[in-house]
Amino acid sequence: MKDFQHSSRIINIISGKGGVGKSFITVNLAAELSKQGKKVAIIDVDMGLSNVATMINEGAANTVIDWMKNRADLLDTLQKTPFFTLVTASNNFQHKNIDHHLLMDALDQVVQELKLSHEYIFIDSPAGAGSMVFWALDAADFTNVVLIDEPTAISDIYKLCKYVLQVSPNYPFYAIVNMYDHIDKARSTYDGFNEIMETFQQYSIPFLGGIPRDQKVIEAIQQQIPYYQLKQTDQVQDALINLAFETAKIITSIQSNVNKNIV
Ligand SMILES: Nc1ncnc2c1ncn2[C@@H]1O[C@H](COP(=O)(O)OP(=O)(O)OP(=O)(O)O)[C@@H](O)[C@H]1O
Ligand SMILES: [Mg+2]
Repeated sequence: MKDFQHSSRIINIISGKGGVGKSFITVNLAAELSKQGKKVAIIDVDMGLSNVATMINEGAANTVIDWMKNRADLLDTLQKTPFFTLVTASNNFQHKNIDHHLLMDALDQVVQELKLSHEYIFIDSPAGAGSMVFWALDAADFTNVVLIDEPTAISDIYKLCKYVLQVSPNYPFYAIVNMYDHIDKARSTYDGFNEIMETFQQYSIPFLGGIPRDQKVIEAIQQQIPYYQLKQTDQVQDALINLAFETAKIITSIQSNVNKNIV
């Protein structure tokens, strides 16, 4: 087993409001990088509402909660899929009430285990600002913020970023615009958000890329396959390849962990 302990990086994906495309982006960035030969994992920490497994048509596996309840070993939670290794925190909504400190400790151990054999570890976070989001922000080397062109989505994510920047002023955020109808719109959504961040937080958030709104995204989700398996050479596929490229670029540029102290 190759030890990536010192080279593996953790990428977190968050949003203020739900349903903006976090899971679609996570699954497809992970699948794209894996197709390029990288060792990739996803940790799905959307407690009880996990849907990465469903998005790639994989059955239920042992979850982190199963391991915590001694129903499985740590290694049993690492689900091998044709695209990437998947760890699901929980697939039962009732687990929302579990002791979050114990769960965070368990997830830290999952990360350590994944780091032994993966270069890229993505975290698919729930929407909003719950304890799993803060764990993910803390665990990650950087966080991608998914923006869509809706005032509530922008104001929700702004509040979350503002909170994080109060604790960790140099926190590495990057912006992705999803579901834009025209490239100019992607740019103006990003510009609007960045202007608020610059004006009120003196923080400039880099633009990582965007994904257009496209019916074929829904087709891929309905067919439960990564987008590239639709075998389309189109603007969505180009956008995903570009995002994967930009992600890899950030990762090679990261020298050392910033001490973020979010949790
Ligand atoms: N680029 C896109 N074009 C068209 N539809 C999209 C696009 N991205 C996402 N969607 C639609 O939005 C839905 C929600 O996407 P997804 O589940 O990835 O969001 P999410 O942010 O992870 O949601 P949650 O907050 O509930 O976890 C998808 O099922 C799909 O129908
Ligand atoms: Mg999701």
